[in-house]
Amino acid sequence: LISEVAEKNNQTVFIVGGYVRDLLMHRKAPTDIDFVTEGNGIDLAKAVAHEINSKLKVSVFKNYGTAMFKHEGLDLEFVGARKESYAEDSRKPSVEIGTLEDDQKRRDFTINALAISLNKENFGELIDPFDGILDIKKRILRTPLEPSQTYSDDPLRMMRAIRFASTLNFKIEERSLASIKSEVERIRIVSMERIMVEFNKIMLSEKPSVGLKLMEQTGILHLIIPELTALKGIEEVEGQTHKDNFWHTLEVVDNICENTDNLWLRWAALLHDIGKAPTKKFMEGNGWTFHGHEFLGSKMVKNLFYRLKLPLGTDMKYVQKLVKLSSRPIALIDDGTSDAALRRLLFDAGEDLEDLFILNKADITTKNSSKQAKFKKNFEYVALKIKE
Ligand code: CTP
Repeated sequence: LISEVAEKNNQTVFIVGGYVRDLLMHRKAPTDIDFVTEGNGIDLAKAVAHEINSKLKVSVFKNYGTAMFKHEGLDLEFVGARKESYAEDSRKPSVEIGTLEDDQKRRDFTINALAISLNKENFGELIDPFDGILDIKKRILRTPLEPSQTYSDDPLRMMRAIRFASTLNFKIEERSLASIKSEVERIRIVSMERIMVEFNKIMLSEKPSVGLKLMEQTGILHLIIPELTALKGIEEVEGQTHKDNFWHTLEVVDNICENTDNLWLRWAALLHDIGKAPTKKFMEGNGWTFHGHEFLGSKMVKNLFYRLKLPLGTDMKYVQKLVKLSSRPIALIDDGTSDAALRRLLFDAGEDLEDLFILNKADITTKNSSKQAKFKKNFEYVALKIKE
């Protein structure tokens, strides 16, 4: 249908971007499909939508020359091929009509610059001017243009490189990595909201430590969450050392991710030790201490969420609570059982109620991890050990 409407309008049309990549990689079912036309994207979107159903609502983003509508649970987005570069100091592009190749060239990575033709003369043909298919095979993230050009066009792409490396298990090409490292400061012009979209995709990946390590290596992590990089390193006084709390944090995050998809629980794991850098002291006779780090850490979560433009409501309070309780083993119970029933069960199990914290409906903590074995009989649960 799209093909026919485009032909009637005398326009070309191609599928581009993530949909083609995921199709070739046999990944998840798509939620959105991007179409490029060498012509006016908004006109094409309207014409296609009208053909499907004359009442279909089309959202138009005039500044970007894009328009989209929903159809059968999919977001269909149309854009006119563009030639432009982004202006130096903003991500607002100046729009100038270009060819498909112009459009492919200004995309972030070769694996996202693949197109499938929907035009009569070569319907279904895969158009790959930058060897994106080879890069999929080699599992490598490479920019179609010089890395510094692609990243200065939109510095968020530095985060996207790390996000794709983490979620797709790809390597960032050496030249690209070097460019990110040397021009990392550019990330400052990107809004925190956009950075956090990518960051949360890293947090929801199978092994967030991959992305977090890359963020640390490139310097991005230090720019956005210095509280975490402050945990790096081991000090020694009188022959006594403490563990490197940054690497420990990465281990805890990966462990938790094996057990839960809950984004905020994952965030709690990431932040559970942030109070340790400012509370670290060496005490004669006692060695290294981090007295009160859980309480300080929990306060720091608030500042951090504010600065990172993360939600400040119940999700943040949940993370704060978990950080405060992080020295205790936590059992996550997620079968909808009411708090009262949980309390009764814990009581029956001989748990001292003083030591019980109902974190929210789904979670309990208990001081004594051996007691958790008893809950297992009655509840579906995942034990999350925050501290060894
Ligand atoms: N794109 C880009 N630069 C950006 C963002 C997006 O070049 N900063 C291009 C890429 O070609 C990308 C397409 O726009 O494939 C769509 O972007 P988006 O929907 O954000 O990502 P997807 O690649 O579709 O990946 P996913 O759906 O997994 O997030």
